Amino acid sequence: MTRIAGVLTVPMLMSCAAGPAGSGGSPSRDLHSYANSAQTRVTHLALDLEVDFGERRLSGTCTLDVDGQDGDLVLDTRDLTIASVDVSDDDGQSFREAGFDVGPADPVLGAPLRIQRGAAGKVRVAYSTDPGAGGIQWLAPRHTAGRKHPFLYSQSQAIQARTWIPLQDSPEVRVTYSARVRTPPELVAVMSAEMLSGTARTGEYEFRMPIAIPSYLIALAVGDLQFAATGERTGVYAEPGVIEAAAREFEDTEAMMQAVEELYGPYRWGRYDLLVLPPAFPFGGMENPRLTFVSPTVIAGDKSLVSLIAHELAHSWSGNLVTNSTWRDFWLNEGFTTYLESRIQEEVYGPERSTMEVSLEVEALEDELPSMDPADQVLHVDLAGRDPDEGVTEVPYVKGSMFLRTLEHAVGREAFDSFLRDYFEKFAFRSLTTEEFEVYLDSELLSSHPQARQSISVREWLYEPGLPDNRHVPVSAALDVAEEAARGWADGTLAVGDLDTEGWTTQHWQQFVRTMPEALEAERLADLDRAFGFTDAGNAEILTDWLKLTVSNQYAPADEALENFLVSVGRRKFLRPLYDELMTTEAGRKRAAEIYSKARPGYHPLAIQTFDGLVGWAQPAGE
Ligand code: BES
Ligand code: ZN
Repeated sequence: MTRIAGVLTVPMLMSCAAGPAGSGGSPSRDLHSYANSAQTRVTHLALDLEVDFGERRLSGTCTLDVDGQDGDLVLDTRDLTIASVDVSDDDGQSFREAGFDVGPADPVLGAPLRIQRGAAGKVRVAYSTDPGAGGIQWLAPRHTAGRKHPFLYSQSQAIQARTWIPLQDSPEVRVTYSARVRTPPELVAVMSAEMLSGTARTGEYEFRMPIAIPSYLIALAVGDLQFAATGERTGVYAEPGVIEAAAREFEDTEAMMQAVEELYGPYRWGRYDLLVLPPAFPFGGMENPRLTFVSPTVIAGDKSLVSLIAHELAHSWSGNLVTNSTWRDFWLNEGFTTYLESRIQEEVYGPERSTMEVSLEVEALEDELPSMDPADQVLHVDLAGRDPDEGVTEVPYVKGSMFLRTLEHAVGREAFDSFLRDYFEKFAFRSLTTEEFEVYLDSELLSSHPQARQSISVREWLYEPGLPDNRHVPVSAALDVAEEAARGWADGTLAVGDLDTEGWTTQHWQQFVRTMPEALEAERLADLDRAFGFTDAGNAEILTDWLKLTVSNQYAPADEALENFLVSVGRRKFLRPLYDELMTTEAGRKRAAEIYSKARPGYHPLAIQTFDGLVGWAQPAGE
């Protein structure tokens, strides 16, 4: 997980503060939306879109059902071209033209679209997207597995839905949606919704999401896709060359669903499918309802990285069912989900694996914390005037889950599980702030556990930097084995041949590589490489840890692998440490610039936003 620093300037801070509050009436609590949703709420969206790969454009209409007080409707947009706006007073039977204006654009928030709606119940916006829309990646055929067809996918979280749909782009607002999508023939469209009809022959698809969801969960992808079932209500979409490996890798999805249902109550979304994206996808996974998007880097061949599926599946409860009200409450989505993820892993693969995964996460947090501004170490993080992307660090994920694990430890598993089940039931299909959670936690759990209430300082967990002393962190004995092996080899007491690596999992190898001393001679690295084949590792987690080590030691035999990896993979979690490491030396900076210029055309807009600054990319004149 990454944060971007220094992308926002001072005027930006001011416009951000003035933007949403200036929308009239009582402002919403969400600083990242212009929508006047406190007065007027959108309840349903009907999309009718044409996908044009040649122009890299979506165009068509979005018809919004609107409820609430009469008056103007303010929507979020960013880089959209608005052709016209019509409104209907008779439930869509007839439309008439309405006045509208697009306010000044903020680089992060975009521009408010103010529509003179009066008392109309339906508003239809005709629009098209920009080829550089931040929420859509258009991929040329060479950036796909099959290399024959183009691919497109959306990434709406956190505030990118407004770059491809004019809407109230706040997690406090839930909408149902329907969509008609026209694609070039031969390509398949999928959405975070039920597919009602559609074939690649005609390129006409219809979707329906009858359950109200926040805007950041609206998703679309179009490509050369096949489907394989992995269970009664689970399956995988992927390109033809990837589908078999994907179906095998993710065959435990149904077992995960059963485990989580048993713990926290029924799965409420019908089907649960996965969509494997091209490697440019900047995240490991995205919990789009009914259709989680995943990076192909999760397919390791041995199911060793499927905790990511457990994570995205868990969002069907924490996030998609009970949603953070604003992006400062993001830890309510990710901390709960990271906690649930470890519980699912424990049920399906046993406590040893789950504990190893938790330990690695905790180490990642402890590594990141010292370099972070104390204000950003807080769960209820202050994002005023900032891009919500800046709040995506290890803190909401790992500190958040640590808080929940500490509560579980203090009140006992049974009481905590029952508290969580009630929480998901009580707040189902609603959004929640940190303060609301704090009140609920106290009245529903801590008031009946006075000892826990005394020993755990909830306010410190939620509102202060660092990690409270009384945190509960499970210890992984299994990882110690890998750590000792690494130490033994590093201090010369053990040769590679002496290392007993029988039965090691990905997590052992990660710990082994991470424990290596920072400085190692080329022959020493070659010794490891010959024995364990790290440079050729097909596992992106292990490869990233290894390449970081080879970069810091300028180990030339891994140069080619480094370049191939950085050019073909766009997942920020992997790119970040490698570019960071390259940037620490003069020679490395030169290599980073060379590699980046090759890789950049294949990166997602979000990755470009992160790494342009990091590698000091200077746009060639005239681009
Ligand atoms: N919802 C997130 C991805 C995300 C967060 C996208 C914020 C945009 C803004 C997803 O569930 C996630 O957390 N992905 C992680 C996976 C993980 C921690 C197992 C990722 O992609 O690395
Ligand atoms: Zn998540």
